[in-house]
Amino acid sequence: MRWLSLERKISVAFLLGLLLVIAVSAIAWISIQRLRADARSVQHTHLVLTQLGTMLATITDIETATRGYAITGDRNYLNPYDDALAVLDTRFAQVRESTADSPRQQSLLRTLEPVMAARVANAASVVRARRDQGRDAAEGIIQGGEGKRLHDRIRELIVQMMKEESDLLPPREAKARMMARFALSSIVAGALLAVLVGIGALIAVRRGFARLRLGELRLRRSNRGLQRASQRAEQADRLKSAFLATMSHELRTPLNSIIGFTGILLQGLAGPLNPEQDKQLGMVQTSARHLLALINDVLDISKIEAGELRVDCLPFDLRAALIRVADIMRPLAQAKGLALRLELPPELPPVHGDQRRVEQIVLNLLGNAVKFSERGEVVLSAEAQAAFVCLRIRDTGIGIKPDDMHTLFLPFRQIDTGLARHHEGTGLGLAICRRLAALMGGEIRADSTWGKGSTFTFMLPYQGAPNA
Ligand SMILES: Nc1ncnc2c1ncn2[C@@H]1O[C@H](COP(=O)(O)OP(=O)(O)OP(=O)(O)O)[C@@H](O)[C@H]1O
Ligand SMILES: [Mg+2]
Repeated sequence: MRWLSLERKISVAFLLGLLLVIAVSAIAWISIQRLRADARSVQHTHLVLTQLGTMLATITDIETATRGYAITGDRNYLNPYDDALAVLDTRFAQVRESTADSPRQQSLLRTLEPVMAARVANAASVVRARRDQGRDAAEGIIQGGEGKRLHDRIRELIVQMMKEESDLLPPREAKARMMARFALSSIVAGALLAVLVGIGALIAVRRGFARLRLGELRLRRSNRGLQRASQRAEQADRLKSAFLATMSHELRTPLNSIIGFTGILLQGLAGPLNPEQDKQLGMVQTSARHLLALINDVLDISKIEAGELRVDCLPFDLRAALIRVADIMRPLAQAKGLALRLELPPELPPVHGDQRRVEQIVLNLLGNAVKFSERGEVVLSAEAQAAFVCLRIRDTGIGIKPDDMHTLFLPFRQIDTGLARHHEGTGLGLAICRRLAALMGGEIRADSTWGKGSTFTFMLPYQGAPNA
């Protein structure tokens, strides 16, 4: 039961209880119906017995009345005789109807009917003889014995019918008693079962509530732990930001000095340099520039991830910015023997955004295109669309495998290709570009064919991001 939720447990208990109540009610209802039917059949037996007894009494009335009249000649003796004659047919019909479902009783009734008719005719002849011929004639008929024989035969048949009916009584009564016992025991058993299920459900629900309370307690405890951990994380994050800001300041200042002073030395402003010195200083300057770019990238991504980087939303001349970036990249492309072409429309609609960040994005995309191409050309094109300017940087370089496309924009990810490994970089460029583009309300997509070249599309909105 542990795998059931508290809600389910309550529903199951309710359903089980309901099913049990329905089952117990159905059993009790069927038992009561059967009990009533059996009681009715017992009642019916008693009714038939009473009707048969009454019919015998009516016949006996006829017998007694005719004898009394025959002996005394007193007309008053004939009153029960008249009454009996008046009801005899009705009594017979009642018995016939009550025993209609018993073929045996119906066959006995068919035997009884002519005997009764003969008995009534015999009694009528006694009455007539007494009235018309006197006592001797009437007694003569009585002593003839026909009336007694018929009466005995009637009694015999009725007693047989009574016996037939009485024989049905014990099994009917036993069945009725059994049904009563069954009804009672099924109701008691059902009630007991319902109580047991109720107790079981109560225990399960109480346990469920206890577990729920325990779970709640644990949840509260772990919530408190989480809160503490999140506070610690926030504090650590603040420390990290502060550390990065300080470190970047501390690192950038001397780096800028190194770059600046090596520049002065390289220009010969502090005196002439021999070729070896010139070479060594050049390497110092390149390394310092590289380190500065790296520090700037790390600082950018940290700020973006901390939600602290803000972008401007000011109007600027996009066309001029693109030409400037291309000019910066051209010497590098030429050094590799690549053609860097611009496909810009004569005019581009004015753009509201952060010019420095747009240039940073295009510079990185162009830098990648030059870095990862060994021959052919790099093309920077722009196309004005409804709400965006669509900037495309297309190259004929090494391309990207479909499997590597999903890691392209993750920070510190450089695709592990034999060729790409030879290129310097930290793998931060595209991650920063995508986040910067999103901050300006735009996006960057990449399409590439392995071994043939890549196209990076930068969609820049005219109006910048609403929250920028
Ligand atoms: N035009 C391209 N052609 C082929 N591969 C590319 C291209 N642009 C990016 N990539 C792949 O995506 C990886 C990530 O690019 P990203 O600009 O983020 O890093 P990076 O150029 O290696 O280093 P960083 O830009 O930080 O100096 C690259 O290392 C390279 O493998
Ligand atoms: Mg790059």
